[in-house]
Amino acid sequence: MAHVRRPLVAGNWKMNGSKLALAELAKMAAGLADGALWRTIDLAVCPPAPYLYLASAASIGTRIAVGAQDCHAEASGAFTGDVSAEMIAESGCCYVIVGHSERRTLHAESNDIVRAKAAAALRAGVTPIICVGETRAERDAGKTLDVVGAQVAGSLPAGATGEGIVVAYEPVWAIGTGLTPTAGDVKAVHQFIRGELRKKLGSDGDAVRILYGGSVKPSNAAELMAIADVDGALVGGASLKAEDFLGIAAVYRTIAPSTYH
Ligand code: 13P
Repeated sequence: MAHVRRPLVAGNWKMNGSKLALAELAKMAAGLADGALWRTIDLAVCPPAPYLYLASAASIGTRIAVGAQDCHAEASGAFTGDVSAEMIAESGCCYVIVGHSERRTLHAESNDIVRAKAAAALRAGVTPIICVGETRAERDAGKTLDVVGAQVAGSLPAGATGEGIVVAYEPVWAIGTGLTPTAGDVKAVHQFIRGELRKKLGSDGDAVRILYGGSVKPSNAAELMAIADVDGALVGGASLKAEDFLGIAAVYRTIAPSTYH
């Protein structure tokens, strides 16, 4: 059975913004207030943990869901400074990013850790957005598919269903640099990930949304989002301003829903 994948445009604010940035959320919501377009895609913003509850409260009745940027694998315990997936769920979040390259690199998160975090998200009823992606050196060495394949195989939690998880392909060298892979390179990696997901989940692999992330902005979003097996975007810098974020989401005005699958 063919799966229609509903595109997801998610903003990762990283450790940026302040309480005042929630005004951008209100602006985004206002920009989405009418128009049939927004009923065909999902939108989310992932602010820093201290603002999740406020952001969730502000998002009620809007088209925007809220997500967290990380979670701990355990539900509770002596883990000073950490936040569990259950706490994230209670804060009103629908999503949690796990395995972002900044966590993999700066916090030494292995595939095993990322998988445990993704499993925690499923346990708590939150959709994990599982990030994968190669470094510049790995791409230059021709190892992109090996690296991404190992990350997908190692980071997917047991019990994952097609609609219960999201995968984000974010080439590390494209994050915050203004550089993006060619459309052909994005297509090749997304198709490869789709194949790996089918191997792991059977036909349910067709239901998993695979986002592209790395220097997505309004000016390049149309080309990137039109690529086969690109089911939305994970946006960093350009998600901090309502105008840019909405400009990216608006490219779905020109992509017919019938071509989403
Ligand atoms: P930029 O969009 O700023 O390149 O960041 C991408 C990213 O890391 C999203 O998670």
